[in-house]
Amino acid sequence: MDNIVLQLKDLQTTFQSGRKSVPAVDGVSIQLHKGEVVGIVGESGCGKSVTSLSIMRLIPSPPGKISRGEILFNGENLVTVSNKRMKKIRGKEISMIFQEPMTSLNPLFTIGNQLIEAIRNHNNLSKKEALEKAIQLVEMVGIPRAREIVESYPHQLSGGMRQRIMIAMAMSCDPEVLIADEPTTALDVTIQAQILDLMRELNREKGTAILFITHDLGVVADICNRVVVMYAGQVVEEGSTRMILKDPKHPYTQGLIRSLPNMAEKQQTLYSIPGTVPQPGSIENGCRFADRCEFAFDACFFEDPALLNLEEGRACRCLLYKEEQESVG
Ligand SMILES: Nc1ncnc2c1ncn2[C@@H]1O[C@H](COP(=O)(O)OP(=O)(O)OP(=O)(O)O)[C@@H](O)[C@H]1O
Ligand code: SF4
Ligand SMILES: [Mg+2]
Repeated sequence: MDNIVLQLKDLQTTFQSGRKSVPAVDGVSIQLHKGEVVGIVGESGCGKSVTSLSIMRLIPSPPGKISRGEILFNGENLVTVSNKRMKKIRGKEISMIFQEPMTSLNPLFTIGNQLIEAIRNHNNLSKKEALEKAIQLVEMVGIPRAREIVESYPHQLSGGMRQRIMIAMAMSCDPEVLIADEPTTALDVTIQAQILDLMRELNREKGTAILFITHDLGVVADICNRVVVMYAGQVVEEGSTRMILKDPKHPYTQGLIRSLPNMAEKQQTLYSIPGTVPQPGSIENGCRFADRCEFAFDACFFEDPALLNLEEGRACRCLLYKEEQESVG
């Protein structure tokens, strides 16, 4: 157990909406081991970004707040540490690549200046030394002519280059944990593959543990050791990437896999799960997936399924498996 670097325990993050407080993340438990790459997958609105922003303690408050649970980073509970301590952890021990790179780079400053600032925030280096490190980082993320690039402004770079700069920024302090929230969604396929290669290399060479957030199970297959599937603010399935892709248990995971484009070749048309993810707090009883599930039966509409342990390292939240297994929470 002691090689767990990050552990979410029963995390609940709520947003105030009028007089109601609605949970966007509702009782999520996730473990990330040292040097491991774990994927969090699920459709838009499942709570993936709220989970990652909660870890960084960057939930806008109000209206949001972490209302229950623990986030243990090497045993230290990030939910209760001081703002000063959190500021130190953020960007030094845990870094995040945000979903939209343009919003996280300042258009008014050169790439070099922004990298230098990030580096000097956590290292006792002179400006000159920090510039050299910035150039090294730009080279490391595979951008040619690094010395010229550090002189450029964000708008002068392509989307793929900006995303690489974000990765360089996130890696500038050798974090123990990297949270990558849809780092390749906005990019074309070739660049996507290059960014994935880069992240894999960082994981292998530096041992950085990565929480890789994506709606694309195909990407998960490429890079993750383990996968956590989220639906409507909850974990609905968890297991090794191989098991999840080969033998998905939860009807939602099965639907996600059937929607993969390479499956369409066999099926002629691209499948998509009917309906949409429910708004947080809108389903009071029963399985949150029930109105979209082709296997739903009566009990699904009034009984909340628990997350069940199917076998070692494998869990699923579905009443179809209830008779077989014991609940894990
Ligand atoms: N600042 C906020 N105020 C109110 N509700 C919010 C806020 N941020 C997120 N939510 C709600 O939390 C839910 C989960 O959102 P989240 O951004 O985590 O989804 P996601 O899984 O990251 O989706 P996507 O794939 O589109 O990025 C959504 O229903 C969203 O409306
Ligand atoms: S609990 Fe019922 S509705 Fe929910 S996924 Fe399982 S079969 Fe489908
Ligand atoms: Mg998101």
